[in-house]
Amino acid sequence: MSTDHEWGPTGPQERVLDRGPTAIAHPNIALIKYWGKRDERLIIPYVDSLSMTLDVFPTTTTVRLDPAARTDTVTLDGTPATGEPRQRVIAFLELVREMAGRTEPAAVDTRNAVPTGAGLASSASGFAALAVAAATAYGLDLDDTALSRLARRGSASAARSIFGGFALCHAGQGVGAAADISSYAEPVPVPDFAPALVIALVNAGPKAVSSRAAMRRTVETSPLYQAWAASSKDDLTDMRAALGRGDLEAVGEIAERNALGMHATMLAARPAVRYLSPATVAVLDGVLQLRRDGIPAYATMDAGPNVKVLCHPADAARVAEGVLGAAPGCSVVTARCGPGARLRTGAEQ
Ligand code: DP6
Repeated sequence: MSTDHEWGPTGPQERVLDRGPTAIAHPNIALIKYWGKRDERLIIPYVDSLSMTLDVFPTTTTVRLDPAARTDTVTLDGTPATGEPRQRVIAFLELVREMAGRTEPAAVDTRNAVPTGAGLASSASGFAALAVAAATAYGLDLDDTALSRLARRGSASAARSIFGGFALCHAGQGVGAAADISSYAEPVPVPDFAPALVIALVNAGPKAVSSRAAMRRTVETSPLYQAWAASSKDDLTDMRAALGRGDLEAVGEIAERNALGMHATMLAARPAVRYLSPATVAVLDGVLQLRRDGIPAYATMDAGPNVKVLCHPADAARVAEGVLGAAPGCSVVTARCGPGARLRTGAEQ
């Protein structure tokens, strides 16, 4: 988390406390994917993952304690949240209250600059922002590692959005408390490597199967899952070396094979989970054509049909053109490395 401000004893601090603290976090895209949990309650991943935090599509979340209220209220993009999204936020608040030894209900207001549930990592930015805002609201003094662990309890990918740039999330060792303490993200300093990620928005609608349900089904039924999890270890070793060399071609090749392998595990689940749409495949063809034309461009996809294309910043406009040519219905947004989760400053109120 970056804290780039000092609050004075008066003025901004009073205003912030009136409304409750507000935190901002950005989504991250995994270059080495997390897919599958070995503990569903504690949200402990089976595999380590490595991601790039983006500078687009932030989530902004305010947590205001409301001692007079009987229950928590959760507002998502101006509308009261219902069902599972509401339950996940309330369960997270329960956890924070337990850690802080507090009981007051809270009013949570979350705004996403990205379509929620469309495979664009809104749960990563969402729970990273909620972890920072809720920890502050309930008076928990957590360092970045502890915040990352906490964010993981909301959504494992959120553990990585606590940090800017590149972050590695440890799957952790052991079971129970040992697993909980050892599963968190940490920054991976990568000097002189700042690629662009051209995001092809193929379909911004909510997904048919949640990533949570899909990964459970994959772990339980896909004969390919264990093989992918094992190969992911080698991918991570290779990825760290490639990042260290600032080798975009190698980073892209490893990210692409890791993502396609993850989707292969889902396609082999019973019944199959298929997030990739015809437009996704058209974008993948466009990426291959760019490579044939000598432009290093590599694709990765998460739990949705959108494609993120890694490339040199100088090639981003050409890559966007190639993607749009291949899949004319989609829209593109170009992202770069972004910042870690942070409290909003008094000046930004
Ligand atoms: C495909 O972090 O959304 O984006 O832990 O169940 O909340 P939960 O899942 P989530 O899964 C993200 C999976 C992924 C790959 C990744 O981001 O590593």
